[in-house]
Amino acid sequence: MSARAVRLLGIETSCDETSAAVVEGTVDAPRCASLVILSQDVHRLFGGVVPEIASRQHLTGIVPAVQAALDEAGVALGALDGIAVTHAPGLVGALLVGTSYAKALAATHGLPVVPVHHLEGHLFAPLLEHPAASPPFTALLVSGGHSLLLDVPAWGRYELLGQTRDDAVGEAFDKAAKLLGLPYPGGAPLERLATGAPAPPPRHPHHFARPMLRAKAQPGDEDYYDLSFSGLKTAVRLAVRDAEARGALAAEAPSIARGFQDAVVETLAAKVRRAMRARGRARLVLGGGVACNGALQQALAAVAAEVPGGALFAPSPRLATDNAAMIAAAGVFRLAAGERAAPTLTARATLPLPGIFRA
Ligand code: KG4
Ligand code: ZN
Repeated sequence: MSARAVRLLGIETSCDETSAAVVEGTVDAPRCASLVILSQDVHRLFGGVVPEIASRQHLTGIVPAVQAALDEAGVALGALDGIAVTHAPGLVGALLVGTSYAKALAATHGLPVVPVHHLEGHLFAPLLEHPAASPPFTALLVSGGHSLLLDVPAWGRYELLGQTRDDAVGEAFDKAAKLLGLPYPGGAPLERLATGAPAPPPRHPHHFARPMLRAKAQPGDEDYYDLSFSGLKTAVRLAVRDAEARGALAAEAPSIARGFQDAVVETLAAKVRRAMRARGRARLVLGGGVACNGALQQALAAVAAEVPGGALFAPSPRLATDNAAMIAAAGVFRLAAGERAAPTLTARATLPLPGIFRA
């Protein structure tokens, strides 16, 4: 891989953050020179992201976000080596704003456009803060839309070990939070609520069954690495209904939240342990909005520490949620691999992670 240092503008508009960043450096050592994130708070009013509103907000936010990122880095467009942009997956109208603007800006300055897959961006986020967060590693990507357990022998090669069969982990947090009367997005408020409660012990009504976690599961079994959260969501719904019927929901909500979070964290930790052992990895990379969860970080740090020299690389909150710095960092890799977008580049709502494979 080329060790040539480059400077890229990154653009991310796949969901509800309008983000631009300047990243400089090499594939193995990208450095964030600036990062601007305009979070669209308006969706809170609707309890979820409204696609048309997201697109319109990207339209008004993209130009000032890019200008602010260039100003903050003290870089002129002419001093860039290219523009990295998220082209998939996500909301198509939202993605179109970023890809169209990136193509127009690049064309007027004679720059290459480097298309980046959003999930590959999440894999690169920890590298912006931790020089050792390079392959080989095990990766757990947990966001509002995705839950993937990967083995990464090298950048660009992603072995899919497991994924969710229904809700993504963040989605499960959001739905459980909604049942508990918390605002959207509910992951962080649910974590705060859970902090006030002791862990429900086994046989306690809030000690929910750990989903897809059989002690006897073997590596060839489908449920060895896969995840599922719909059953747990139902268990939370029943617990909420039961507490409500007794007029005890306010008193018991922290315990229900803790029980839910414990079940999710214990399941993820067990699957990550299996993945690290199966592939002999000592490094673990965590990505996506749910990476902000303190209980999850603590449990995964302990799993990584079971291996000699093991370490967890979790991004700080600004780099864990959707941002353009991680897109530019992945863009440095893709540019070094010789990738350039054709003028026909367009947005895609769904697209497999490039380089993903099943062993
Ligand atoms: O990666 P992200 O910003 O956007 C997507 O691509 O989906 O992830 C957002 C998700 C939401 O579901 C949110 O509830 C969850 O991340 N989240 C958390 C926490 N902070 C954010 N989940 C659990 N605990 C948290 N502290
Ligand atoms: Zn994301």
